[in-house]
Amino acid sequence: MINDIKIFDTTLRDGEQSPGCSMNLKEKIEVAKCLERLKVDIIEAGFAISSPGDFESVKTVAETVKDCTVASLSRSVEKDIDAAWNAVKGAVDPRIHVFLATSPLHMQYKLKMTEDQVLENAAAAVKYARKFCSNIEFSCEDATRSDYDFMVKVVNAVVANGATTINLPDTVGYTTPDEMRELISYVKSHIDRPDDVIFSVHCHNDLGMATANSLAGVLGGARQIECTINGLGERAGNTSLEEVVMAMYTRPDVYGVTNRIDTTQISKTSKTVYNIIGQSAPLNKPIVGKNAFAHEAGIHQHGVLANKATYEIMTPESVGITENNLVLGKHSGKHAFAERLKALGYELDKEELVSCFEEFKVVCDKKKTVNDDDLIAIVNHNMMSDDEDTGYKLNWFSVNTSNFTTATCTVNLECDGETYEAVCLGDGPLDAAFGAINHIVMPAEHTFADFSIYSISEGKDTLGDATIKLNSDGKSCTGHGLSTDVIESSIVAYLAALNKLNKMKGN
Ligand code: KIV
Ligand code: ZN
Repeated sequence: MINDIKIFDTTLRDGEQSPGCSMNLKEKIEVAKCLERLKVDIIEAGFAISSPGDFESVKTVAETVKDCTVASLSRSVEKDIDAAWNAVKGAVDPRIHVFLATSPLHMQYKLKMTEDQVLENAAAAVKYARKFCSNIEFSCEDATRSDYDFMVKVVNAVVANGATTINLPDTVGYTTPDEMRELISYVKSHIDRPDDVIFSVHCHNDLGMATANSLAGVLGGARQIECTINGLGERAGNTSLEEVVMAMYTRPDVYGVTNRIDTTQISKTSKTVYNIIGQSAPLNKPIVGKNAFAHEAGIHQHGVLANKATYEIMTPESVGITENNLVLGKHSGKHAFAERLKALGYELDKEELVSCFEEFKVVCDKKKTVNDDDLIAIVNHNMMSDDEDTGYKLNWFSVNTSNFTTATCTVNLECDGETYEAVCLGDGPLDAAFGAINHIVMPAEHTFADFSIYSISEGKDTLGDATIKLNSDGKSCTGHGLSTDVIESSIVAYLAALNKLNKMKGN
């Protein structure tokens, strides 16, 4: 049996479709570039038929990425397959990922189809997809609640029609490691041509077992793992890429498999994805949480000082966390700045470097030292702010607030060469600031779907990264802001979201 595991990343599809994780085109391209540097084998770039925006992003990722297979998801219907193919056909190695549910529950209540109809439909869909593309994945949705022998029939039919990868997903996060291992090994050993296909696992984390289930699938014979950065995904998320990869890396004695992931890219990729969606890792998140390599207890510190292996099963360096003594500050020049970014894996073009360096200098005026986390946030913020650039911009604001008076805020904004000023009272400085902005921008009716501020690094002069998501008429727009002053970062994030809202409404 081959021992090479393919890592199939679905951050841009299953990850992105979960609430609070949506990304714009530029952000998706940035994530795709990170995934390419991480050396994932397959990037599932989206679900092309689901919206024109999704189609465009799958197409752009397909045309940008050179070193990974690029896939689009597709239901088992011709118009989906057409859209998937049209979106991925520009890729160096395109893949169409067709799915159809095989569990009694899904067939009866969702599809309203009999077993025979599902069998026929699955085979026909794969046959149709195969006309365009030789790399076809078929997923038996809700496989872990499907009848094993029925799935054997379906898999035989789709393989006979040209499927090259067979995915057996735990769609609802219901299975256990023993069951997953048994499922893969049963279907694999009962189909006609097991050597002609790669078996894949795709697990959801509803019971916190996605990583364990995926690894059990590997022991059962799966050679592809579907996963996402930071475990993003529907409900409780998907299998986290960093966890499965580092488990196989740390325990070759158990799994005995290889993959081509560059593990030193894990930390940076995780941070980029968190920055983009405006979240931070829970402190105790395996591999990428702040505490994942921290040793607080005295007895642990003593052990680690004597020999790291006492309490450390993998090194921080192996996931790209480096002991970096090189902090930058206001006297650092563009060259040192560019060199540090290069060492962190960022190859910026001239224009990007100039605008990131400008933002770096602004940050240096407020913050004595700028570390790697700050730099990553500056680059990500710069990359995200591009398409937030049109519309109103903050010139200055002034807030008057205390715990015994009503807050007042004056904002001065600029748009198309004109300046505007407004003042407003509010329940606190942000309410007052947002009220003043609304006087000027007069935005369409909207609600706050999400508002988060998190600190990029440590210390009281840390950068605060604000993300605001607004909902209006069933659509949402997200804005980001980065500053050492959290009121400023919130104002910038709100303006960015309002500018997008205006654009969306055609104002
Ligand atoms: O969870 C699932 O079953 C999926 C499939 C569409 C692969 O995401
Ligand atoms: Zn899924």
